Parts: sequence; C-alpha cells; structure tokens
Amino acid sequence: MSAAEKFIRERLEERRENGSYRTLKPENNLVDFYSNDYLGFARSSTLKQWIDDEIAANQRVLNGSTGSRLLSGNLTYTETLERQIADYHKAEAGLIYNSGYDANIGLFSALLQRGDTIISDELIHASIIDGARLSYANRYTFRHNDLVSLEEKLKHAKGNCYVVIESVYSMDGDTPPIKEILAITQKYHAELIVDEAHAIGLYNNGLINKLALEKEIFARVVTFGKALGCHGAVVLGSKTLREYLINFSRSFIYTTAASFHQIASVRMAYKMLPQATNEIEKVRSNIQLFKKLIVGAKGDLLPSDSSIQCLVVGNNQKAKTIASELQSAGLDVRPILNPTVAKGSERLRICLHSFNSDIEITLLSEILHQYTL
Ligand SMILES: Cc1ncc(COP(=O)(O)O)c(C=O)c1O
Repeated sequence: MSAAEKFIRERLEERRENGSYRTLKPENNLVDFYSNDYLGFARSSTLKQWIDDEIAANQRVLNGSTGSRLLSGNLTYTETLERQIADYHKAEAGLIYNSGYDANIGLFSALLQRGDTIISDELIHASIIDGARLSYANRYTFRHNDLVSLEEKLKHAKGNCYVVIESVYSMDGDTPPIKEILAITQKYHAELIVDEAHAIGLYNNGLINKLALEKEIFARVVTFGKALGCHGAVVLGSKTLREYLINFSRSFIYTTAASFHQIASVRMAYKMLPQATNEIEKVRSNIQLFKKLIVGAKGDLLPSDSSIQCLVVGNNQKAKTIASELQSAGLDVRPILNPTVAKGSERLRICLHSFNSDIEITLLSEILHQYTL
C-alpha cells in the first residue's frame, strides 16, 4: 500500500472510530425537517412553471454558458438581473457567483492583502474561513456574538481590517447584535461584511435591509440555494467593489459561468419572493409553534428566532440515535456532529419550513421530549 493510500485509509478509520464518518444518502419521502428550502420554493410548482415559461420565452439562448463571464459566458440577461437584485437589496451593485461557497472564497481571497486583518465570529461559515486562508492576511476570530472579544481583536488589527459575521448563523440559527457590532467596527475604522445566506426569505430581503444598514456595510453575500430554492449567490456592495471582483476574484474569473437556465431560475425566484407573504407568515408561525412545544425537552435549545432550531444533546452517538429514531417515525432531522460543531455541542438541527404541518411539528416535539429524557 502506498503512503498516500495508507494516509487516507487511516483518516477514514479515525472518523469511523469517533462516530463522525460521513456518507451520502439518497433522497427519501420523509417529512423535511432538514433542508434549507425554508419557503418551499425548491418544490414550488408555480416557480417551476415560471422558470419553464421564462426558458421557453428565450429560445435562442444556449444550453450551457460556454465559458467564463470574462470570455464567452456573459449574458445581458445576467447583468440585468444583477442590477435588479442589487435594487431589491438596496445595494449599489451586485455580482453573481456560481455558489455561496464560490462567492465567499472569491470575495475574501481577492480583498485581503498581506498585512491586512480579518476578524470573524468563531462560528463563521467554512467558505469564509477558506477564502481568508487563501490570502496572506492576519486572521483572528472573536467569541461568538461577543462584543468585548471583538473589540479586543480590533485593538490589534493592522492594515485594512474587515469584520465578518452572518446575520443568521447556519449551525446555531441565532442572530448577532448587528448594530452594536457595526458601531465597534466603525470605532476602529474597520469594514463590516455580512453573510445573509440564512436570513433571506424569513426576513424578506435580509436583516441588513430590515435594520436599514445597507449604506454602512462594505459587502453582503446573499445565497440563492436556501430560501430562494435555486443555486448560486450574489456579492452586494459598491460599483467599485463589483469592478474589483471582476478583475481580481479568482473564483469568479476562472470558472464557467452559470447557464441561462440557472440564472433564469434565480430571476423567477426573486420575482416570487416579494409575493411569498403567506409562506413567510407560515414559517414564522411554525417556528413559534415548535418553540412552544419543545419547552421542557431535555437538551439545550439554542436561542434562535429563525428557521434553524438546534437542540444540543452533547455527543455524536446520542445525536445520531435520536435522529435515527425521528427518521424511523417518518421525520427527517439530521444530526450535526463533531467536528462540524465543537465537541460537547453535537446537536439535532431542525429546519422549519412553510410547508411543515402542525401535526408534523407536534409529532416531532413529542418524539424529542421522549428521547432526550
Ligand atoms: C452562511 C453560509 N454562507 C455560505 C454558504 C455557501 O453557500 P452555497 O451552498 O450556495 O455554496 C452556506 C451554505 O452552506 C452558508 O450556510
């Protein structure tokens, strides 16, 4: 066996031993308490029809984009959509990437220079960590949502400094004190960047718009694969930032552009979002119902008003056992294991949607009461 083969086998064995071995699972017909399709857009037959109609109305477009946006892959349609999306989020400009992962990698690796500083919340998404790692900047984290810890790090910042947060955290579902973080960031002449992946939909066009902070934020990342039910992402910011990214952002430049079909889906999802008031109301009431019913269950329910509700049960095995009990009862809830989350904070991550019924939510909380005893 080669040294490389031995290495990968050992790494996999370690995972099996500590209960964190990952496998791909096929789709199923269980009740969805785990996907990011918060408003049901991915399964919406109306949206599907709109996308089909949009594609049919643009018969001359190609099946694939044929190249990078900088070469053969750019469409006037995409640039028009970027302006529409920017307007909707009250930003000066927007640049579409093929995924949220690409957007964060491309934004941070392009922005951060040797001697600069990035300070991110310790729970920040992997795509931001990876983007920062591709730079030569100084990287610091601050304790989750902790203003004192943030200020401590800001005092030592050098060069251009960027503070990065999510407006709804992907693994905890909570929201940081955005205004307070912004005030401290500005006190140290640093820039704030906000990833809004999980805030879009539940909070309409995002929490930054809700708080009317759009003019104060250096850049926002909005992803299309969650409440919008499609795929891709946009970086929102100034016109200059957009031009800079077109020139320097490698995950934008060195990749084939999204196909017309993908961009048309995003356009139709953005057409649907302002009309989705019933879905938004329903997911909000489902969140309230779940929070009411779960009171008294053992395990630590993390503070969250979002679609992401987490019950910390403390170890990989317990999280897996409870998830498999729920799956046997027809409810798909996924365990979030270490090393994705810190040891001791292994959890059940429950995603609530507009299409979950009261009966399903009641059954879910009954089983959670039973198995977290
Ligand atoms: C906060 C956050 N940012 C970025 C991403 C990446 O987005 P995408 O799935 O579109 O690559 C995710 C998705 O997991 C996320 O949760």
